[in-house]
Amino acid sequence: MVIKNLTLHNFRNYEDETFEFAPGLNVLSGRNAQGKTNCAEAVFYLCTGTSLRIRHDRQLIRRGADGAHIAAQAQTRFGSVRLEASVFENKRELFLNGNKVARAADFVGNMNSVFFSPGELRLIQDGPDERRRFLNLSISQTSREYCTALSRYQRILDQRNNLLKGRDGGLIMETLPVWDEQLVVYAARIIRHRRAFLQMLSPLAREAHAFLTDGAEELGLEMDGTYPENEDEIAEKLLKMLASSRERDLRLGFTSVGPHRDDIRITIGGADARGYCSQGQARTAALSLKLAETDIFRTLAGEAPVLILDDVLSELDLPRRKKLLERVGDIQCILTCTHAERVLFGAACNKIRIKEGKVIR
Ligand SMILES: Nc1ncnc2c1ncn2[C@@H]1O[C@H](COP(=O)(O)OP(=O)(O)OP(=O)(O)O)[C@@H](O)[C@H]1O
Ligand SMILES: [Mg+2]
Repeated sequence: MVIKNLTLHNFRNYEDETFEFAPGLNVLSGRNAQGKTNCAEAVFYLCTGTSLRIRHDRQLIRRGADGAHIAAQAQTRFGSVRLEASVFENKRELFLNGNKVARAADFVGNMNSVFFSPGELRLIQDGPDERRRFLNLSISQTSREYCTALSRYQRILDQRNNLLKGRDGGLIMETLPVWDEQLVVYAARIIRHRRAFLQMLSPLAREAHAFLTDGAEELGLEMDGTYPENEDEIAEKLLKMLASSRERDLRLGFTSVGPHRDDIRITIGGADARGYCSQGQARTAALSLKLAETDIFRTLAGEAPVLILDDVLSELDLPRRKKLLERVGDIQCILTCTHAERVLFGAACNKIRIKEGKVIR
């Protein structure tokens, strides 16, 4: 897959700008705070319908403007696609090939990307939220079924949690089983997808990690929490878990079991990575997960995603930098950095220089 161009209108610090991308390595360079990450973020938004650094879409709108517009044209193995997003204060509209799409699930995954930035260290070092977000975003891009199950699950979960916050304990205990029956259907689907994804991800991430570290470290990944094999059995088990945590949930005012609480266990050399590994190890482990994700997209979608490397090269030592670029190969890559010359040691690329929200031509 190749993104050919990207047009930004009132998006972040861009007023009106168009980027032309080449098939291989694209390097966005410029000083700090000029708009490199913003451009990368726009590409990711069109792929996933979300951004990793916002809490609300309105943050994407250029200060003082009424709405932002992002559009891109990509060449996929199914032909050419045009994706557009219009973001306003309190709503957004998504378009695929000029037609408005009603559900995000129909928009996500038409263009795939893998995003890596220094913030991705959180994936290794922070709490389970980050790892669930990684799973959700990643699996959603290749499975519409997952994307749909996730949004239905979230809606039912919100309703269940609202109910738990109510006052009439008797009524709540009577109504909960009805919600639980619905909740576990989607929960089980989510868990099945996550497990299948991790089964693919784990050996690929281990291999990528060994490649980047020259075999010095071994990376391990597994789902924590044990669930039965098939979806019906998972649902049955969850139903029991929900029933037995009902009183506790009522006390807590939220649902304390289910896939919204699950985690992945990540180990380096057999030891828990969280709270143990060095910065460099965490960075390499996170990068390995992303490279493995890239491999999976390539297998499942039948073509490579766009790899976005935001500010990553400068943090790696020279041998790892070279290994990374070698591993990326001919995948389309959008890479940001402050000094293209220093990080790229002469690798061939399409150079785009950015200054104050404009491409310098
Ligand atoms: N909604 C917005 N409206 C206007 N400007 C914004 C908006 N959101 C972010 N900006 C500005 O965009 C500028 C560029 O941000 P960006 O994160 O793209 O910088 P960068 O080029 O990646 O810099 P660095 O090298 O420091 O990572 C920042 O100065 C930021 O304040
Ligand atoms: Mg940046």
